[in-house]
Amino acid sequence: MTEDQFLPTETYSSQLEGSVTVQSPSNIALIKYWGKYGEQLPKNASISFTLSNCHTKTTLKYKPKIGEDSVFEVYLDETLAPNFKPKIEQFFARIERYIPLVKEYDFIIETTNSFPHSSGIASSASGMSALAMCLVELEQKLLSEPMSHEQGLQKASFLARLGSGSAARSIEGPLVVWGKHPKIKGSSNLVGTLYPYEVHPVFQDYQNTILLVETGEKQVSSTVGHNLMHDHPFSEQRFQQANGNLSKLTPILKEGDVEAFINIVESEALSLHAMMMTSNPYFILMKPNTLEIINRIWKYRRETGSHICFTLDAGANVHVLYLKNEKSEVLQFIQSELKIFCKEGKFIEDRTGKGAKTLK
Ligand code: DP6
Repeated sequence: MTEDQFLPTETYSSQLEGSVTVQSPSNIALIKYWGKYGEQLPKNASISFTLSNCHTKTTLKYKPKIGEDSVFEVYLDETLAPNFKPKIEQFFARIERYIPLVKEYDFIIETTNSFPHSSGIASSASGMSALAMCLVELEQKLLSEPMSHEQGLQKASFLARLGSGSAARSIEGPLVVWGKHPKIKGSSNLVGTLYPYEVHPVFQDYQNTILLVETGEKQVSSTVGHNLMHDHPFSEQRFQQANGNLSKLTPILKEGDVEAFINIVESEALSLHAMMMTSNPYFILMKPNTLEIINRIWKYRRETGSHICFTLDAGANVHVLYLKNEKSEVLQFIQSELKIFCKEGKFIEDRTGKGAKTLK
């Protein structure tokens, strides 16, 4: 696969006015992407569960541009959100050679998140994938020979990646790989692809409850975080570790070996945070309550034999992962023992999902 295959093959034959709405989920990485090069290319392969309830809904209103340059406005929850513009401007600048309609149309982008704004949940994966998918839907309408459904999804993932790396993994689900890996057929640095091998039923409807330990702006932006890997003393070992963990995951996913899965997933979460603690400048993104929760999960697992585990993204919130058939016990445990460590007692129940969808 090369970038060139995403270049436009024809000039648009029509000019349209209308709107398209897409709902796209967030995702949670099991093997983490941390470190990138070139134009949004990952230093190692990653894999994630696509989520279901945590999603962004974006309506893209379009009409042929009036002035010399195309213009757009962004609304979050029906309120003008100029602070979103620079990121989207940068996104449009990166993708215009692949989807020239961004220079030919004026847009109004209306977006809402299912999760509370400033809940500390990264909205860039769901937000960028939703916008990328809207643009591909519009392009399909303008092409005299539309792309196949699969090509459209691939292009949406390709564009989403240029907005935010992890967004490439939100177009499809429930398990998506992003980043070239020698043992994963079809994997690519350019797009997220559905995990191509057998997955045991226990991993097919996995539960994920997000404990909101800290809300508000991220302490370290992902751009800053990824850049820390450039001169990092352990970066090469980390990229090898991640790729090695992904190799190990293949038989684990096939055989339904939940214990081995837990070991890799928790190790990945802590390795990600270890990278931040050992970079320069260094950061501790976990909070005391994050550690409390982790210790309580370990204790509960030891004492009950539950298959509960945790992962973290680049912040203090804890993603609790568990099997569907342990759902009622785990939710009870969260209510009685973990909720007190959440900001205002807040947590979000979620599970694996299928990716972005266009709403009629
Ligand atoms: C820790 O995708 O937010 O969540 O490409 O700079 O937008 P950019 O970074 P982003 O990084 C996500 C990092 C992570 C791990 C992961 O999702 O794999």
